[in-house]
Amino acid sequence: MKVGIVGAGMVGSSAGYALALMGIASSVVLVDRDHGLAVAQAEDIAHAVPFMSSTMVEARDYNGLAGASVVILAAGVSQKPGETRLALLERNAAVFRDVVGNVLRVVPNAILLIASNPVDIMTQITVRLSGLPASRVIGSGTILDTARFRSLLGRHLGISPQSVHAYVLGEHGDSEVLAWSNARVGSLSLADVAAQVGSAITANVRAQIDDGVRNAAYKIIKGKGATYYGIGAGLARIIKAIAQDQQDVLTVSVVNAEIQGVSDVALSIPRVIGADGVMTDLFPDLDVGERDALHRSASLLKETVEAVTI
Ligand code: LAC
Repeated sequence: MKVGIVGAGMVGSSAGYALALMGIASSVVLVDRDHGLAVAQAEDIAHAVPFMSSTMVEARDYNGLAGASVVILAAGVSQKPGETRLALLERNAAVFRDVVGNVLRVVPNAILLIASNPVDIMTQITVRLSGLPASRVIGSGTILDTARFRSLLGRHLGISPQSVHAYVLGEHGDSEVLAWSNARVGSLSLADVAAQVGSAITANVRAQIDDGVRNAAYKIIKGKGATYYGIGAGLARIIKAIAQDQQDVLTVSVVNAEIQGVSDVALSIPRVIGADGVMTDLFPDLDVGERDALHRSASLLKETVEAVTI
């Protein structure tokens, strides 16, 4: 599979690096308005390939996207310390008004994978700009938040996050919803396993994990200026499910006709991902508090996207 990446900054190049190391794509093409940056990123990633895979990595202009099955849109600005993701909207919407048309001119049938923040709004803007079916415009959404949730729960329990099944829903942002009520470990409830391993999920533990997930990016950005390895691997994971038609369940952002009483809004719930993008939505069973929080998150996103002039 050929994968295009528009935006050769830290997120786009980290996704390219992950794709190359994992050998998921036969070729990766980096496109950036700063072509020199794209060339440097592509050459640096290409020097890692011989250790792990045979992926061809190059920097091209938009025409170089020809034949790509998936194109990652990672162009635009990223959060500065203390800045919310929603604060990036006006600048990144302006970038996408240019990028989306340039991509579709070359690969009108590609699946578009949105990484730029605020990713849920950018996903919906891309659907409007492209006219593509919602199932072929996928935002990375809360795939990274879900990974953070699973990682922190696994660390607390002393169990691999691969065996922890817990989802973050809604906005990839401050209003996101950690679905504690249906978190499972193997085939057992979270509370059952916590009791058996002697690591109770107290109110304090729950608050610490919620903070560790919800505010992870702010802490990392304060320390090193940006996040990119986690999201880069998350983007590669989504592409793996598409490239290998895995029918995997991932929390990604897609425009929903209606969710939790809010119509026409992009946010994350668990969805089955395969060769044609989103195959099926899996609406989670939530408790009353989680349903209310998801409604608030969906309402915030709806109000925000309605204020955007496409
Ligand atoms: C983060 C960025 C990708 O959560 O929004 O790290």
